[in-house]
Amino acid sequence: MAAAAVKKLQVLVACALLLLLAVGCRGSPLQIGFYHDRCPQAEAVVKGVMMEAISQNPGNGAAMIRMLFHDCFVEGCDASVLLDPTPFSPTPEKLSPPNNPSLRGFELIDAIKEALEVACPGTVSCADIIAFAARDASCILNAGKVHFEVPSGRRDGTFSNASEPLKFLAPPTSNLSDLVDSFVVKGLDAEDLVILSGAHTIGRSHCSSFVPDRLNAPSDINGGLAAFLRDQCPADAAPGGNDPTVMQDVVTPNDLDRQYYKNVLSHTVLFTSDAALLTSEETARMVVDNANIPGWWEDRFEKAMVKMAGIEVKTGDQGQIRKNCRVVYRN
Ligand code: HEM
Ligand SMILES: *[C@@H]1O[C@H](CO)[C@@H](O)[C@H](O)[C@H]1NC(C)=O
Ligand SMILES: *[C@@H]1O[C@H](CO)[C@@H](O)[C@H](O)[C@H]1NC(C)=O
Repeated sequence: MAAAAVKKLQVLVACALLLLLAVGCRGSPLQIGFYHDRCPQAEAVVKGVMMEAISQNPGNGAAMIRMLFHDCFVEGCDASVLLDPTPFSPTPEKLSPPNNPSLRGFELIDAIKEALEVACPGTVSCADIIAFAARDASCILNAGKVHFEVPSGRRDGTFSNASEPLKFLAPPTSNLSDLVDSFVVKGLDAEDLVILSGAHTIGRSHCSSFVPDRLNAPSDINGGLAAFLRDQCPADAAPGGNDPTVMQDVVTPNDLDRQYYKNVLSHTVLFTSDAALLTSEETARMVVDNANIPGWWEDRFEKAMVKMAGIEVKTGDQGQIRKNCRVVYRN
């Protein structure tokens, strides 16, 4: 009787363990420290190049954080955004309006890849380089309050088409429901949207991204900021035309901090998509919490970045390791 009960319990425990294992395996195909055995210095090499690049220009950090977003939302985090045009694929993602001409940092990725090809040839994927670089940029620009591990083991994709970024990257003119929808399609939720939008506390924007709907049309933008922006931006700003850039956060332009949420509350943000976070009670409450509670945003930003960096990743023979991040590898 007692022996039978113990046996039953053992079976139950074994089943529970198996279930946990199965769920765990399905959770993420990536792992923290994927390169520890394959290329022990990989993450240190990326960090070294990023420290140097950001000390020269903090915009290099902003570039990598946006690069991760634009990579992961299109074909998953597979570095498809880095591929150059070829005769067989003349219009890759990087030529699409959401990326061209505003997405920057391609040369920085090249520099990291070159250093890694010297250290460990053919080992570290370009997709992992983007994830490491965005993570390091977050830590460096936040003066260390944001620090997290990012799982790795992504492989690089071989397909890139300019029509896809238009499908998956909502424009800055979007309302809240379109923004939330674009996140939900990728397995993220409204809170991830609010948290990740906080990245607009650093970096720059071209005037054309906000002049038509925020300055040339009635909007809720703060009068002082509007005057400042009209001073810097031509009224006919257009991509590829006369289109200067301005800093996104005029208060602390190079700090990855919660100032963004204070700016949202004071209507001193650039985009309709930033202002839209106040248009539902649920997201507005999140904005207030992020603005007011020290440490609140930093904790959530770390988790949301890892979540974004795990979107539709390719592993094993679903992808390859490129030699040059701009070119599909053929052996
Ligand atoms: C939610 C929807 C989003 C929209 C509509 C949006 C839109 C934009 C636009 C229009 C720009 C300026 C591009 C230019 O004209 O130069 C920009 C810049 C930027 N975005 Fe977003 N963004 C969104 C979400 C995100 C997310 C999720 C991240 C990362 C976590 C991010 C990080 C950045 C950064 C760092 C910059 C500055 C880039 C630089 O200085 O080169 N954005 N975004
Ligand atoms: C890429 O997208 C264009 C439309 O922008 C389409 O005409 C073309 O067939 C696509 N190419 C591939 C290989 O899917
Ligand atoms: C949001 O914008 C889309 C157009 O992009 C429109 O179809 C939709 O009705 C708008 N939703 C709200 C709630 O305003």
